Amino acid sequence: MLNVIIFGAPGSGKGTQSERIVAKYGINHISTGDVLRAEIKNGTELGKTAKGYIDQGQLIPDTLMIDILASVFDSFKDSKGVIFDGFPRTIAQAEALKEMLATRGQAVSVMLDLDVAEDELMARLIKRGLESGRADDNEETIKKRLFVYHSQTSPLIDWYKKEGVYQHITGLGTMDGIFADICKAIEKE
Ligand code: AP5
Ligand code: MG
Repeated sequence: MLNVIIFGAPGSGKGTQSERIVAKYGINHISTGDVLRAEIKNGTELGKTAKGYIDQGQLIPDTLMIDILASVFDSFKDSKGVIFDGFPRTIAQAEALKEMLATRGQAVSVMLDLDVAEDELMARLIKRGLESGRADDNEETIKKRLFVYHSQTSPLIDWYKKEGVYQHITGLGTMDGIFADICKAIEKE
């Protein structure tokens, strides 16, 4: 199975590139952000809990997130692989993912780190906030999300380098150009 992690700061293009990866490689997509937003939309208990964190630009607690991830993963039947978008975001989540895959006889194939400069991230998310209105796409919350990324999530770069699956991707440029680089990195595996 092809198990891909698409990693990067808020606005780096994880969702955009995941769609292309799914279309080309026929694997399943798990976006933890999309899962949580759907729960909020449906007014579930989980959604109510998640909203408090998301609106503050904070991460949902690891134990909750890990359980959600495992249940979505196990819902895929005859899967050719999975793209993990927005997960893991902490070392605890990375360790849990490793163990979850190992107990199912699998492993992460590649971790793609979409690298985009901070001013570009801010510009993309402000623009999206004006157009499609995601509740956390306002300047104040974006700054919090970027802070959380630097403090809790970016340490995963070294963690995955040690695992030997890390691939740096320049996330600035055209969506097609970035996708071509992603395909090269995936096909190296
Ligand atoms: P999540 O939904 O994962 O949001 P995020 O990481 O902040 O990232 P985004 O979805 O905003 O950006 P993206 O990288 O997908 O970029 P996109 O393709 O959309 O998480 C939201 C919240 O949920 C978190 O803050 C947290 O509270 C919670 N959460 C989620 N997962 C969690 C976890 N594992 N643990 C705990 N909590 C969790 O692109 C952005 C914009 O840029 C778009 O408008 C796009 O059109 C544009 N764009 C894309 N590529 C380019 C390009 N090459 N050039 C120009 N524009 C581009
Ligand atoms: Mg996204």
